Amino acid sequence: MCGIVGYLGEQEAFPLLIKGLKRLEYRGYDSAGIAILDDDGSLEHHRRKGKVDDLLEHMNGHKPSGGLGIGHTRWATHGPPNDVNAHPHLSGDGQLALIHNGIIENYHSLKETLTGRGHTFYSDTDTEVLVHLIEEILKNSEDLDLFEATRIALNEVVGAYAIAVVDVGRPHELVLARKSSPLVIGIGEGEFFIASDATPIIEYTKNVVYLEDEEVARVSLTAGLKIRTIKNHKVTPVITELEMAMESIEKGGYEHFMLKEIHEQPRSIADCLRGRLRLGHGSIRMAGIDDHQEMWSQAQRLIIVACGTSWHAGLIAEYMFEDFARIPVEVEYASEFRYRNPVIGEGDILIAISQSGETADTLAAIRMAKEKGAHVFGICNVVGSSISRESHSGAYTHAGPEIGVASTKAFTAQLAVLALVAIRVGRLRGKLDEQRFNRLLVELSGIPEKVQALMALEPEIEQIAEQFMKAPNALFLGRGYNFPVALEGALKLKEISYIHAEGYPAAEMKHGPIALIDENMPVFFVATQDAHYDKVVSNIQEVKARGGRVVAIVTAGDTEASALADKVIEIHRSDDAFVPLLSTIPFQLLSYHIAVKLGRNVDQPRNLAKSVTVE
Ligand code: G6P
Repeated sequence: MCGIVGYLGEQEAFPLLIKGLKRLEYRGYDSAGIAILDDDGSLEHHRRKGKVDDLLEHMNGHKPSGGLGIGHTRWATHGPPNDVNAHPHLSGDGQLALIHNGIIENYHSLKETLTGRGHTFYSDTDTEVLVHLIEEILKNSEDLDLFEATRIALNEVVGAYAIAVVDVGRPHELVLARKSSPLVIGIGEGEFFIASDATPIIEYTKNVVYLEDEEVARVSLTAGLKIRTIKNHKVTPVITELEMAMESIEKGGYEHFMLKEIHEQPRSIADCLRGRLRLGHGSIRMAGIDDHQEMWSQAQRLIIVACGTSWHAGLIAEYMFEDFARIPVEVEYASEFRYRNPVIGEGDILIAISQSGETADTLAAIRMAKEKGAHVFGICNVVGSSISRESHSGAYTHAGPEIGVASTKAFTAQLAVLALVAIRVGRLRGKLDEQRFNRLLVELSGIPEKVQALMALEPEIEQIAEQFMKAPNALFLGRGYNFPVALEGALKLKEISYIHAEGYPAAEMKHGPIALIDENMPVFFVATQDAHYDKVVSNIQEVKARGGRVVAIVTAGDTEASALADKVIEIHRSDDAFVPLLSTIPFQLLSYHIAVKLGRNVDQPRNLAKSVTVE
């Protein structure tokens, strides 16, 4: 949801900013802009609707020179994507340039006050108010510097922000602040790199400082890094070492990040299990549970909150926890949960699932649960993210950076972590006997190999994609553990191909979706051999009887469902709880190939953003 970059140092800022913006483009890509303080002390400012490449085209080969600059890639909230609403925004006197990720909720009243004081606004954005507010404070007190003025301004602001501000009069410093939107400061040798996440920074330095909520920072070539809270308390910066590898944020020969990330799953699932699933010892080691065993044994209830694909992982986890640990579970959309008056308190464990660890609604849900006395267990992919830092305990998914907007490897890694947690807690609560526990461990440890085998199905799936790419609608059906897989299959297809798709529990088909079925409607079934197999076969028959076209994911060696379906995709047999780790892969590949064939922008589908840091 908007990407921010900044640079201060001896190098030319422009190429660094452009490279950084490209790395952050997955966060938002409806406009882009930069502001660079050039060597003769004037501010160069370029903005354009569209992608970073559109900005470059607009600049027509011009490369501003200077070692201080900021850049922004936007995901519109206030005001449509156009050149004027693109960041950076300038103060009325042109002395300040500011970029912002987040939402200023009280921008209306601030704008009114500032307009009354003679400020003129050109854009529809909430952001422009911020830069005018800082300008106003600076104008009224000559003793204040940019850092102080920004700090004071932020005390008047309600909302979420990660900002970077440049002042023409202060060519050796950059002022930054955050609240509820991430901001990372990379510390180099006599230079500073700023970004919304670590991906633009990693190739220059591994030393970073994660700014915390309501902190304001100044990076200066002469005075280094200084941080204070907006209430003016001194903060000692804590430098963290990044563990990310460069290759993990490159496409590595694949045409798209999404395809690379689909193919990475055998490794990412294995990485997620490594060191935790200990076959030799017949045990699972997870600090987030080992350190709180009593709490997990006595928990009354689990509440899982998440959004999007992570919510689908939560739904599958509900089945796992019920199966393995016999504990009541509720799965909630974070956005609904936070605005209800939920009954939650001590004795409840809230599990927050989030790839980015920055989703605004999920973050707000965990803050509310903490206030009400629940223990928060965070499952995040991005190391050092807000949710991981604000949870009491948790587990990383270790899938590596996920750049494609449609989540793939993060989803399966979430399932793997959730399986480990559910099995571990099941054993802890005495609901899994040793034999079943060991069987589950063996089965789970074999999943990466089975996922690897599925990759060989790609040519077959590409052909199916060719056949169904023209369908205007599609239905995804499954039962039990595979019902959330159907939801996820439909989400993947609609988000990257723009084909209208719905996921349903197969039995619910008769309560509505069956009316849609005709010869033009493809129906994608998960019909693996589990407890619900016979029922799903009946559902396939019902679709066939109405002329629908069926693609079925079945267990290798299947005959019944296969005889009915028009197209069959075979996956390996596994324990019912782990089948989603396999059955979801063909749907990922199918959506990918349909979207590519339709000429869609697979990694950056329209209107979406990787990380939704506004509500
Ligand atoms: C956005 C992304 C989805 C993701 C969802 C939740 O909608 O496009 O891929 O599932 O946010 O994000 P999170 O980072 O919390 O898992």
